[in-house]
Amino acid sequence: MTQIIRTVADLRALVRGWKAAGDVVGVVPTMGALHEGHLSLARAAKADCARVIVTIFVNPKQFNNPDDLTKYPRTEAADADLLRPLGVDVIFAPSPDEVYPTGFATAVTMAGVAQPLEGALRPGHFDGVATVVAKLFGMTMADRGYFGQKDWQQLQVVKRLVRDLNIPVWVVGCETIREADGLAMSSRNAQLSIAGRAIAPALFVAMTRAAAALRAGDATALATCQTEVLAAGFERVEYIELRDASSLDPAEGLDRPLRLLAAAWLQGVRLIDNIPL
Ligand code: PAJ
Repeated sequence: MTQIIRTVADLRALVRGWKAAGDVVGVVPTMGALHEGHLSLARAAKADCARVIVTIFVNPKQFNNPDDLTKYPRTEAADADLLRPLGVDVIFAPSPDEVYPTGFATAVTMAGVAQPLEGALRPGHFDGVATVVAKLFGMTMADRGYFGQKDWQQLQVVKRLVRDLNIPVWVVGCETIREADGLAMSSRNAQLSIAGRAIAPALFVAMTRAAAALRAGDATALATCQTEVLAAGFERVEYIELRDASSLDPAEGLDRPLRLLAAAWLQGVRLIDNIPL
């Protein structure tokens, strides 16, 4: 049975019992509006852990645009219907006041991996993510946390967070789930028109071609990729960059794990994607 829990006190009481019984506890942090990408994380957690908590919390601290925060889809009843058949033990859906009560005064700030790319374009975003993820780990007392590679930089931020603050959670990065045409699943895809939805896979297609060209030593591959994405109908490319896969420093040489990461705008919707090199 899947329980919906709204307070830290109720969640802690339950988790303490699980831990006393020796159960490994997994947490899947989400902001709701769930799709197959999120569900794949819950399935991975179920495969590894005796107990699974999915958190649903639209975290105000990670939105740099207040309009985005109010517009973020909130579909808790439908989300619960998707999670129940997976055997998720708890949906933890706290109110903003439960997470950030009056007097809340602490923040996690991160340099390094949180600074480039998304960090530069969305000031304060990763500090908000790091703060809420640290809190969700503390609130759930989970042993393992499941995150999608879809948000590659976020995954590296969370890995850095647990190392730097000695948080005893093992962070698991799960593969990006894609539509049949290659488009990475995202709640934002629903904002595209039918025509936009037909254009959207061009980002992944161009990135896949660029990765192969980069491996073959083509120095113009990133410029070509940008041209292809714009020619497909995207309005603007924010970045298409090759980076060290874990530090996200600019790539030097092809002899270590690298990641190709991109952000681009289509019909006023900001799409991001990344693939290994
Ligand atoms: P949200 O955007 O709801 O995503 C929750 C988790 O689902 C993240 O780990 C994200 O990487 C993963 N995810 C999204 N789309 C995916 C896909 N197509 N394939 C695989 N995984 C996918 O990311 C957040 O929420 C928030 O920043 C959060 C970590 C919950 C902190 O507030």
